[in-house]
Amino acid sequence: MKPVEILFVCLGNICRSPTAEAVFRTLAAREAPDLRVSIESAGTAGYHVGSAPDARAQEAARRRGYDMSGQRARMIEPRDFERFDLILAMDRSNWSELCRAAPRTAHHRVRLFLEYAPDAEVLEVPDPYYGGPNGFEEVLDLIEAASRGLLRHLRDGARAT
Ligand code: 4NP
Repeated sequence: MKPVEILFVCLGNICRSPTAEAVFRTLAAREAPDLRVSIESAGTAGYHVGSAPDARAQEAARRRGYDMSGQRARMIEPRDFERFDLILAMDRSNWSELCRAAPRTAHHRVRLFLEYAPDAEVLEVPDPYYGGPNGFEEVLDLIEAASRGLLRHLRDGARAT
């Protein structure tokens, strides 16, 4: 069976979406080893293309057991809208940019990631780039919750088919 292909998207692809990529990959391998997933991340902007994730994001993730050191930033590209089954935006601004770039036929695959964290009180992962270290912890809390919700959703879907 073809893997479910998931793309996480934020603005710069150095803080939130690479964190989501690393967290979801780790939790999927640990908690749903039979689920076949292919995971990437990208940014709507190109400022940091080729860069490793932000050092603060890497350090916060490493303390919780997630390794992002091998990831490199890239920008979204037109073929992403053909390839990925789910394109998950970190905030509404990313979502709007994706919908602007995507063909109409792909709009239903562009969602806010926090739709999968129904107990979270927010629908957007806040941008931690200009804030303090606590911002990175909040990003991780939200991303872990949404990753678990997305895994439950995918496991339920796999059972139903
Ligand atoms: P990200 O964070 O979208 O979570 O990767 C940002 C990274 C860089 C910038 C803004 C947000 N920037 O303006 O360079």
